[in-house]
Amino acid sequence: MAPPEQKALFLVSKHGTFSLGTKAVPAPKAGELLVKVETASLNPIDWKVQKYGGFIETYPAILGTGLSGTVEEVGEAVTSFSKGDKVVSIGSWTNDSNAFQQYALIAATFAAKLPPSTSFDEGATLPNGTVTAALALYGTPNPTAPGGIGLTAPWDGGRGKYAGKPILVFGGASSVGQYVIQFAKLSGFSPIITTASPSSEALLKSLGATHIVNRKLPPADIKSAISSFITSPLELIYDAISISDTQQVAYDLLAPGGTLVLTLPATVEVDESKDQRIFQVQGLVQVPSHRKVGTRLYVELPKLLASGDIKPNPVKVLPNGLEGIVEGLKELERGVSGVKLVAKPQETA
Ligand SMILES: NC(=O)c1ccc[n+]([C@@H]2O[C@H](COP(=O)([O-])OP(=O)(O)OC[C@H]3O[C@@H](n4cnc5c(N)ncnc54)[C@H](OP(=O)(O)O)[C@@H]3O)[C@@H](O)[C@H]2O)c1
Repeated sequence: MAPPEQKALFLVSKHGTFSLGTKAVPAPKAGELLVKVETASLNPIDWKVQKYGGFIETYPAILGTGLSGTVEEVGEAVTSFSKGDKVVSIGSWTNDSNAFQQYALIAATFAAKLPPSTSFDEGATLPNGTVTAALALYGTPNPTAPGGIGLTAPWDGGRGKYAGKPILVFGGASSVGQYVIQFAKLSGFSPIITTASPSSEALLKSLGATHIVNRKLPPADIKSAISSFITSPLELIYDAISISDTQQVAYDLLAPGGTLVLTLPATVEVDESKDQRIFQVQGLVQVPSHRKVGTRLYVELPKLLASGDIKPNPVKVLPNGLEGIVEGLKELERGVSGVKLVAKPQETA
């Protein structure tokens, strides 16, 4: 049985500080699971919410949307999970569902069982990055709501379908970028060109990247290095970093009629005559236009992990349980390289 109370890390007010407190452990409603959170991942959105506001209307607020843990209680009408299952899931920006606490309520629809080969720490790196990669690539195109490019997903017969087409991924070593590279490989794209620090070359090649361009080169050199690796037009570019510099280089390389996926709002000036599609992915499975692909991704994830087709990000485990998240978010803002920061809520003193 879960205890009546738990420890949780609260963002006390808009632009405020974090504070460790207590909160009642909620009971799962129909369709929900109560999960004992073993590992919570830190995502850039968490420090951005503290610094810039947005996303959250009500304070004190619990942040953190990537989590893994053990099913403690199963709500009514849930048939596919049992107490004791190891799962990963994505929070929905509510105080009951987010990750920076010891017990979270998650929708069974957006939970995936972890195969024995995947640890809790590795599992917690999956929810945000896989969703942000897969919804952009395989989501349904939608001019009025969050959507994607509409590629045929590997689980719908699209495995290897895009053989011979190049893809360029800015920021291959980022959490999102690592998952984009792996889905691109499953979809058959070739070559898979990415920008990263040279220290990440071995990791990114092991995930499927065929060419690594040093991200610290001047933009003109990045462009010419990338151009030297392609023999057909670059119709698909995924900019996982999406700062104005990377967006501009990406846009300059995008073929007429091509698609540029961004993770942040667009800053490039677009030439409408080129008939290109430039959009910011919304990494939220809960929005109605993403639910179908998001639900399917969570069904497929255990198989992709067990087969080794999707490998979790390397992790760095923060000390001091939930309290360690406060320093961890500062570290994430300063910039990490090739790793996902994770915390262990059960280790909170
Ligand atoms: N729209 C959405 O729904 C959504 C969802 C998730 C994330 N995001 C946003 O997407 C961005 C990436 O998130 P994340 O969690 O994947 O980030 P992350 O893992 O924290 O990114 C760190 C990595 O970024 C790389 N990097 C930094 N500057 C770069 C540059 N100029 N060129 C190439 N690589 C660069 C570094 O690469 P090296 O190690 O090679 O130096 C580092 O490994 C963030 O801005 C985040 O807020 C948006």
